[in-house]
Amino acid sequence: MMPRTGTVGAATTQAASVLIVDDNPNNLRVLSGMLEQAGYRVRPALSGTTALRSMQAALPDIVLLDIRMPEMDGYEVCRRMKADPVTAAIPVIFISALHEADDKVTAFQIGGVDYIVKPFQIEEVLARVHMHLELCRARRALQEAYTGMERQVQERTTELMKAKEERLEALEVARGTLVQVIEALVIALEKRDPYTAGHQKRVSVLSTAIGRELDLPQSTLEAIHLGALVHDVGMIYVPAEILNRPGRLNDMEMAIIRSHAQVGYEIIEGVRFPWPVKEMILQHHERLDGSGYPEGLRGDAIIREARIVAAADVVEAMASHRPYRPALGIEAALEELERHSGTLYDPQVVQAVTRLFREKHFNWDAPET
Ligand SMILES: [Fe+2]
Repeated sequence: MMPRTGTVGAATTQAASVLIVDDNPNNLRVLSGMLEQAGYRVRPALSGTTALRSMQAALPDIVLLDIRMPEMDGYEVCRRMKADPVTAAIPVIFISALHEADDKVTAFQIGGVDYIVKPFQIEEVLARVHMHLELCRARRALQEAYTGMERQVQERTTELMKAKEERLEALEVARGTLVQVIEALVIALEKRDPYTAGHQKRVSVLSTAIGRELDLPQSTLEAIHLGALVHDVGMIYVPAEILNRPGRLNDMEMAIIRSHAQVGYEIIEGVRFPWPVKEMILQHHERLDGSGYPEGLRGDAIIREARIVAAADVVEAMASHRPYRPALGIEAALEELERHSGTLYDPQVVQAVTRLFREKHFNWDAPET
């Protein structure tokens, strides 16, 4: 004998309930007796109306349904069950003496899962009831697993979105703080050395314009703007008499000046910027062919932001007056860049700079964005 437990609506430890609908009391008694003996909980109904009412009281796990009955036939009972979301999923097995092909087609079309022809063998009825209950149970388990998975995905997505929002907010706050740190550095440097501060501001304006000319993303433009604004912060350690002294510097003095890249890097080393500000400061005197300082980096080993600041730095320095020489002018600066494009300076950056000055009439005082 097959197991009779583990059904659609019932707990696995409880026997499945079968609603048997037949207007013939004798048939009803025989079928009920057989199914009860097989371990099912049986609810008999002598008419379609009684069956539907019985379902309202408690849902069966499966329905065995006679077709030919007075008042309401089995087809109508099945149609009403399938039209009601509460009873739609309950499997319906038709049991009928009708055995024309059309009857079977109708039975399946209106939602029956099986069709047993009278007179039937009890083993066949039991086997089919068992199989449809198992099918239903499997379908239910699958649906529950899928719903559970969907719910987990939904929960995880919500969690991730919330975490992302919180992270973005925290980043925004941190970003604001870092900008303030940089501004404080600029102000400190300006107090001590207005000359360098002015230089940094102009280099920042030009560097950002170059970045925009190269179609760099907004976040990179921000990085360039801020990094350029403090690229010479290490000059704070260079004695003013060396900075302002006209004439050639000796090797020792040159070494002190050159240390500003490393010193600047160390000044903000502990600050965790979301942009490569430290690297820009450290590398803004590096040159493509490795002839720069402090590390003699070559080519792409120098970050693009630093290659941009390097070119802007040279242009601004040559275009401005220095204590030890008068201004050389923009054209001389551009020619210097072009002469060393590809060896000292990034060719794309050089092109962007020349385009800015010769075609787009770049203005140092234009508001930065
Ligand atoms: Fe510098």
